[in-house]
Amino acid sequence: MRLVPWTSDDLGRRMNDVLAVFGEAMSYHPQALAVRRGYITTHLQRPHFRAIASLSDQGQLLGFAYGYHSEPGQWWHDQVSSVLDPDARQRWLTDCFEVVELHVRPAAQGHGLGEAQLRALLAMTGAATTLLSTPEADEQASRAWRLYRRTGFLDVSRHLLFPGDPRPFAVLGRPLPMTH
Ligand SMILES: CC(C)(COP(=O)(O)OP(=O)(O)OC[C@H]1O[C@@H](n2cnc3c(N)ncnc32)[C@H](O)[C@@H]1OP(=O)(O)O)[C@@H](O)C(=O)NCCC(=O)NCCS
Repeated sequence: MRLVPWTSDDLGRRMNDVLAVFGEAMSYHPQALAVRRGYITTHLQRPHFRAIASLSDQGQLLGFAYGYHSEPGQWWHDQVSSVLDPDARQRWLTDCFEVVELHVRPAAQGHGLGEAQLRALLAMTGAATTLLSTPEADEQASRAWRLYRRTGFLDVSRHLLFPGDPRPFAVLGRPLPMTH
């Protein structure tokens, strides 16, 4: 297994594999994945796009993560900005790298790949903070939540509802760089 930094072109070339990992990890229906293809294609053009892939020795995609600089005018940035008070907005969103997607194929989960991807991705940005959103869940029972807490992510906003999604989300963040 190896972690490989990807350019936006690299990710675009492996889009079908990315969607397959995404679909497996999130148990998404093919129709939902078709919508994701459109989103991800848009994200490839975003400022300071960074991505990392976990590849098996045979080149199979085991997991991936990507993000970009979070800026006004981006849908997610504006949603999060609207629920923060001015101090929190200043602290978290002034120079922020958004972790947009982080997924590991179920068969490869539980061996530290997700954490390695997250750390490698965050080492590729010079931003002052990072933010992500994740569905609300039992922190002890959710592998994603355990990972975020273990790596120092703090509550920025909880039980947030994004338009078009009935699930409540938490916005979590941490200052960068990660030194431990
Ligand atoms: C969330 C997700 C990316 C985490 O990836 P992962 O590889 O499964 O998880 P981690 O890197 O945290 O694996 C660590 C687990 O392996 C164990 N582990 C074994 N060897 C390890 C090593 N060398 N280093 C670190 N952890 C190791 C850890 O103890 C940890 O156990 P735990 O999950 O019971 O706490 C992945 O589970 C996933 O894709 N889930 C579905 C999609 C999802 O929820 N994505 C995030 C949405 S916001």
